[in-house]
Amino acid sequence: MELYIDTANLDEIKQANDLGVLDGVTTNPSLIAKEKIDYGKRLEEICRVVKGPVSAEVISVEYEGMMKEAGERAKIAPNIVIKLPITVDGLRACKALSDKGVKTNMTLCFQPLQALMVAKAGAFLVSPFIGRLDDVAEDGMDLIQRIRQIYDNFGYKTKLLAASVRHPKHMVDCALAGADVATVPFSVIKQMLQHPLTDVGLKKFLEDYKKAFGG
Ligand code: E4P
Repeated sequence: MELYIDTANLDEIKQANDLGVLDGVTTNPSLIAKEKIDYGKRLEEICRVVKGPVSAEVISVEYEGMMKEAGERAKIAPNIVIKLPITVDGLRACKALSDKGVKTNMTLCFQPLQALMVAKAGAFLVSPFIGRLDDVAEDGMDLIQRIRQIYDNFGYKTKLLAASVRHPKHMVDCALAGADVATVPFSVIKQMLQHPLTDVGLKKFLEDYKKAFGG
């Protein structure tokens, strides 16, 4: 399973990358707005740190604007993936970019047929938003399972990227459901390494050793 970090914060990206298990980065306009920095400049900085796929989301909502932005962003680095909303224009842009060999991440996926459509258009990644579905009393994990089943039924190559991951339980369920990738805030990446019994056990090992041998 691949692990991406979902942030535009360079310090968090560097810290996650230093763990040695980071496969990519996703950004979105809200995450960039939090950083108060030019989007293109931040993407350049991110691509200097991470060599795996780095998703850059378009701001335009119309096909022509999406294609123009995609062309500009794709020049930043070879690992840029163009992130597009799943709309009629987004789907057209996905197909056109995929046909040209440009990778896309189709975002804001909330139902299985959206995932089916973008797979047919040649998307590299599809991003179902688990947490936002849970927020409105729907079942985010059910969406992951359904997309997994549909993609497996027809052998679609689009990677299932679980997004809007909010806590470690989401991660466990995504791994069990066969999500190819999860994009995760840095806080959750850190939680993935934690268990209170690990801390208690380590403390005891060191105390026992010290008692026996001093130091
Ligand atoms: C995905 O690419 C999005 O950036 C992200 O996962 C959204 O997460 P949120 O619902 O916590 O904002």
